[in-house]
Amino acid sequence: ETAYYEDRFVEPGARVVPLEDRGHQFGDGIYEVIRVYNGVPFLLDEHLARLLVSADAIDLELPYSIAEIRAICEKSLERAQLPDAEIYIQVTRGSSPRAHAFPENVRGILMVAVKHARTVSEEKRQSGVPVMSIEENRWKFCYIKSLNLLPNVLAKEKAKNYQCHEAVYVDEGIVKEGSSSNIFAVKDGVMYTYPPEPSILHGISRQFVIDLALRLGMEVKEEKKSLSFFKSADELFLTSTTMEILAVSSFDDTDYSERRPITRKLAAEFRAEVE
Ligand code: PDD
Repeated sequence: ETAYYEDRFVEPGARVVPLEDRGHQFGDGIYEVIRVYNGVPFLLDEHLARLLVSADAIDLELPYSIAEIRAICEKSLERAQLPDAEIYIQVTRGSSPRAHAFPENVRGILMVAVKHARTVSEEKRQSGVPVMSIEENRWKFCYIKSLNLLPNVLAKEKAKNYQCHEAVYVDEGIVKEGSSSNIFAVKDGVMYTYPPEPSILHGISRQFVIDLALRLGMEVKEEKKSLSFFKSADELFLTSTTMEILAVSSFDDTDYSERRPITRKLAAEFRAEVE
């Protein structure tokens, strides 16, 4: 494992964050998580493009160009020598005496960490995972991958307490996304997922899976669908950088059949793409 902080490589466990970094004081920053397969970062350009979208959305000037951040990621990977890894990129608005408004003439702080990939067990991949619904309680701009994850943290903890793998946000009866994943329903051979509006994260895996499904000749609809639609679906699955394509075994009190042919096919195609 390895870590880069501000302008240098540091020990992975190093305590280097300044007391007044706005990232931890205000959650004033953004991040990305990228999966590395066989030493190669997967969809790195897409993740870096989204980092820039998040930065622009909060008027955060990146301390390095996207090309420089890509080079730091590659250098970090070289140092870490981990074929199966996760890259965490974070940029905060920098360190300055605590005051809400943006500080003047303060440079943002970049962190890049390469860590062992957190993988989902083969057992869970086979069985699928239980998920539960939770009322949407986040702000309207969840397309920004910001460090303000307290609602997501509380949602995931609640899911864990209910022996669920994920909590799925439902907003006035409409299913949106998980606390750290996007969700799809499959009904009568058609795939459905929430449209890429500002109120959800535009998952890189979500888009990859949509493109994959279209290439396979499937029909995909980015539409708002109700909780009862999801419960009447044939299959459900989650997508994220760390979960990849993960079948859902139950949603609240609704069970999904063991067969899940479309989820299985997509997951197999996904594997083939990254191996
Ligand atoms: N989470 N929705 C939310 C709220 C997320 O936090 C994530 C990712 C996703 C899936 O996005 P992607 O396919 O780009 O990983 C959807 C990351 C993995 C995390 O916070 O660790």
